[in-house]
Amino acid sequence: MSDFLSERARTLPYSGIREVFDLAGTMDGVIHLEIGEPDFKTPPSIVKASFRAAAAGMTHYTSSAGVPELRARIAERLASELGIPFGPAEVTVTAGGMEALLLAMLVTLDPGDEVIVPSPHWPNYEAHVLLCGGTIKRLRLEESQGFRLDPVALRNAVSERTKALILNSPHNPTGAVLDDERLEGVAKLARDRDLLVFADEAYACLTFEGRPFRSIASLAGMKERTVIVRTFSKSHAMTGWRVGYLVAPRALAERAARLHEHTSACTSSVSQAAALAAFDVPAETTGKMVREYEGRRDLLVRGLKRIPGLRVWKSEGTFYLFVAVDAFGIPALELAKRLLLEERVAVAPGTAFGEEGEGYVRLCFANSRANLREAVRRMRVFFAGLQTPTPC
Ligand SMILES: Cc1ncc(COP(=O)(O)O)c(C=O)c1O
Repeated sequence: MSDFLSERARTLPYSGIREVFDLAGTMDGVIHLEIGEPDFKTPPSIVKASFRAAAAGMTHYTSSAGVPELRARIAERLASELGIPFGPAEVTVTAGGMEALLLAMLVTLDPGDEVIVPSPHWPNYEAHVLLCGGTIKRLRLEESQGFRLDPVALRNAVSERTKALILNSPHNPTGAVLDDERLEGVAKLARDRDLLVFADEAYACLTFEGRPFRSIASLAGMKERTVIVRTFSKSHAMTGWRVGYLVAPRALAERAARLHEHTSACTSSVSQAAALAAFDVPAETTGKMVREYEGRRDLLVRGLKRIPGLRVWKSEGTFYLFVAVDAFGIPALELAKRLLLEERVAVAPGTAFGEEGEGYVRLCFANSRANLREAVRRMRVFFAGLQTPTPC
């Protein structure tokens, strides 16, 4: 009998992070540094707003594009941040940034269209492009350049078939934040070669040392060729609420909303009420979370730098560290599994982010300081037990 699976389902990639996570789920006493989500609770004012909304009967379908007040608030906030006008018609509210990216690709990519994906990369991009029938061209991000996208290498990667590129800054998994010069270079290329930019700004709120975040859409001639994707998941510790949004030229945003009509109708009404309340959370509250992440990053960097053989690149944003383990000569997935089985520390193998991630592991520091200290202690034991690293 047939298994009825489509070719699409058959070939959908399986995340290497899940492989470690599933194995960790069968064990006790594991320190989880493999999954990327805030460990903070959603601010209470947001939770209360959702209760109030549900009690008041906000339990029906909403417009596919999202609740008008929320779309207006998003447009207003973005206009003031980027210094260019945005209106609610350019906003579609989605189930997290994930759905925003998928909808954006579904309304812009035709089979055979090429998308440049700087790599290592967040694994979902690959699945999203494949679901649209597009093809992926990966462009290696070099550790020697602080994992920042190089506009010259990007120019060389563009072909006749390239329709779009993914720009993820602050970057998952490396934590790199694109500086203005590179951002200008990418924007110039996009304008010269008529490219669309999927600007994944999921971590826009999470930069360290007061480093300002700048959206590529704010540069001259870019708003009309950029789909901005953002989410409340990371900024307000709201991963489970599933609210994000895309902001795009009106025709694209409208098509994304129309597509939404055929997938989930709309984003959860109660979650949209929660997201609306997120705009009233004082900047001091969210700023405190960012400062705490920064302190944890520093703690982890200090500890890991004392372990012979590891190369630690200090992330500039997000809550990840991308650590080079190539000196030990063990494939990243095997090393991650051994670290888990022998010392009960779960990390994501770099290869979960594309083959360019071989030789690295990603650690998420959205975890308590006590756990991070203990993870460093266990890692010191683990790496000391491996063969002497070759000098790097
Ligand atoms: C780079 C990046 N983009 C987008 C997302 C989407 O997050 P969500 O769907 O929770 O908004 C994530 C989540 O981990 C991410 O790491």
